[in-house]
Amino acid sequence: MARSDALQAFLDAAFVAFDECAQDPRARRSITQIAALLETPQPQRSDLGKRLPVCEPWLGEVLSRRTGGTSLDMLIERFQAIEPLLEWRWRSVYDETASENFLTGHGNAMIVGPGGLEDRRDLWLGATLMAPNVRYPDHDHAPEETYLVLSEGEFQHGTSDWFSPGIGGSFYNPPGIRHAMRSAEKPLFALWALLPERSRH
Ligand SMILES: [Fe+2]
Repeated sequence: MARSDALQAFLDAAFVAFDECAQDPRARRSITQIAALLETPQPQRSDLGKRLPVCEPWLGEVLSRRTGGTSLDMLIERFQAIEPLLEWRWRSVYDETASENFLTGHGNAMIVGPGGLEDRRDLWLGATLMAPNVRYPDHDHAPEETYLVLSEGEFQHGTSDWFSPGIGGSFYNPPGIRHAMRSAEKPLFALWALLPERSRH
């Protein structure tokens, strides 16, 4: 299946929002390269569409919140349109840095990337949803990563303290850096865009 209008519309909105929100020059370069790769669509899957317990009720809550920023509201609206096509999955690898409620309190959805709605290996674009009071485990990965945060929530990378990017906040994780996120009283919702070394130029 070719890329659907709904997915294309989401991707268009995602890159308007990333472009508006990402300040770090390394993130901006990464996002530009990801956008260039996405000009060549890959086959779209139609066999996904699976939710996890965390989606009820927290997905509804994060998606119903309007930010007041036109591009972010558009992004959330278009995410909502493709969400039924996505498969929410648990991160199966975690350690004691995760909170006890981590497993049932989170879900990741790959939109474009390995196993995603558009299944490809040259980039990853996806979303994380966490219930309130959940801490994601420390983790790292070789691809560089740019976050676009769409809710309240705290993040940490390398030796940094926890920081709150806020709605529309964006930050860059260099390749291999250890990082984590945690929610407080509200659910956490964020998009991430990863670019493997081999896709960089
Ligand atoms: Fe990450």
